[in-house]
Amino acid sequence: MSGSNLGAVLVTGGGGYIGSHTAKALHERGYLPVVFDSFSSGSRDAVRWGPLVEGDIRDADALARAMAEHKAAAVIHFAGLIEVGRSMNQPELFWEHNVGGTATLLGAMRSAGVGRLVFSSSAAVYGQGGRGPLEAISEDALKAPASPYGDTKLAGERIIESACAAFGLTGVALRYFNAAGADPSGLIGEAHEPETHLIPLAIAAALGDGKPLTIFGDDFDTPDGTCLRDYVHVNDLAAAHVAALEASLGTGVFEAVNIGGGSGRSVREVVAAVSEAAGPVPHSLGPRRAGDPPSLVADVSRAAELLGWRAQCSDLATIVRDALAWESRPAYGRAGRRPVSAP
Ligand code: UFG
Repeated sequence: MSGSNLGAVLVTGGGGYIGSHTAKALHERGYLPVVFDSFSSGSRDAVRWGPLVEGDIRDADALARAMAEHKAAAVIHFAGLIEVGRSMNQPELFWEHNVGGTATLLGAMRSAGVGRLVFSSSAAVYGQGGRGPLEAISEDALKAPASPYGDTKLAGERIIESACAAFGLTGVALRYFNAAGADPSGLIGEAHEPETHLIPLAIAAALGDGKPLTIFGDDFDTPDGTCLRDYVHVNDLAAAHVAALEASLGTGVFEAVNIGGGSGRSVREVVAAVSEAAGPVPHSLGPRRAGDPPSLVADVSRAAELLGWRAQCSDLATIVRDALAWESRPAYGRAGRRPVSAP
């Protein structure tokens, strides 16, 4: 483990799934991750690699104080609401936290003189329209979000881009595809409540901890009829944040970059991979879930060119192996399962 000689980085939402893996990667690289989190969804047990500032992303003073006190040279901004379905019912809340929170953060960065921001964006900014059924998505593809969640991520990017032009900030928005897996240490992992994601639900079904899995439709225009997604290991995502922090980009520059494994895997392929690792996955076929596009697969060439980043551990077998290790012994979260300490 290294020290913190590269300086402090404020990590908003650092108690969450991707935030905590990024905090660990920052620490290992030699930064001091200062986690700023309200724990409305993150976990205190996930904050292990630097100081914690408990606060709300809509609180400009608390943000500016945290940056000044720890002399942060940059911010990585994860804090926000992520559930697509909930955004359909409570769009105003998503705009307040995701867009209002980002605007508040930018104001605090401006007053504290912090010049670099890496932003947690999403493939949800693209939506479904304007491309062929199995076409990989490049960053300049049509942006037509299919949910208020996607709208707020796109709006967040737009304010950051304006701030870059207005006061010389350097901004990188990372558009995540399907984050999955867990750190092999067993210390941190995915712990959404409620969990809606395919891989943890398939594993829970195989372990007999959850309900049987429902496959949401097999009549899509894809090779086996189930949806294709681009799964990327959470530690590859974490490494992408470190690369974005360090990329040589000029003052006032804004870049948006896809972060995915770069290949599409179907729901049935995921079920087969989980069965292979964890035993049979009890499942049935159900109707389509509203808003699911048939295929979301990243063109990841810009990440390689601009950030020098490529996925290293995002093959499905590795993702499932690491997710299974976590789900078998979660160190926190996962209501109903008995948490155990790390091995
Ligand atoms: N699926 C099932 N059964 C389930 C859960 C999921 O068949 O019980 C299917 C979905 O229909 C989809 C695939 O598995 O085809 C993956 O679904 P997830 O819910 O795991 O992930 P999504 O692709 O829906 O969502 C992810 C992120 C969102 C982000 C979106 C971007 O979790 O935050 O990608 O498009 F908005």
